[in-house]
Amino acid sequence: MDVLVVGDGNCSFAAALAALLKAHRSEARLLATTFDSAAALASKYPEAQGFVQRAQAAGAAVLHDVDALRLHEREWARKDSVHAPRRRFQHVVFHHPHLGVEDFKQNMALLGHFLHSASQPGVLAPRGVVHVSLGGNQPADWRLLQQARRHGLTLLLETVR
Ligand SMILES: C[S@@+](CC[C@H](N)C(=O)[O-])C[C@H]1O[C@@H](n2cnc3c(N)ncnc32)[C@H](O)[C@@H]1O
Repeated sequence: MDVLVVGDGNCSFAAALAALLKAHRSEARLLATTFDSAAALASKYPEAQGFVQRAQAAGAAVLHDVDALRLHEREWARKDSVHAPRRRFQHVVFHHPHLGVEDFKQNMALLGHFLHSASQPGVLAPRGVVHVSLGGNQPADWRLLQQARRHGLTLLLETVR
């Protein structure tokens, strides 16, 4: 099983998930990604390097500079790829997608474009699951359900705290 995490912040989630998978002797292969470049990550989050190392030591792969809106354009999604085998993910995870600006239209667009990209057949495996964490009124404000439906996704589980 392949798991793709996009938009990780300081990679603490990647490190924690990788450790959990390892502790459970899971055969899942975790690919954790950040939107930031390695240099930007290091200057924003001094602790990130330690989390990246922990994720890698627990068996995860970590990539930087990965745009969650263009997952379907990457090498792993291309049928004709000669550099890497085509890879599809059973789980694609984006916790708290946000552009860093409080502009509801732009953040709604971020969510919509991510759902579009993540749900492409070159990215999501058949019966794969896209996980999104949102807070407060974001699901309604950003039209989560309508946008997900537009991309052929069905709500499996909603937890509200
Ligand atoms: C509120 S932070 C959440 C970080 C982390 N996922 C978490 O839950 O702690 C929003 C994240 O979205 C990422 N982001 C914004 N635009 C993105 C894009 N086009 N592709 C991937 N990540 C993006 C930012 O780099 C940032 O890490």
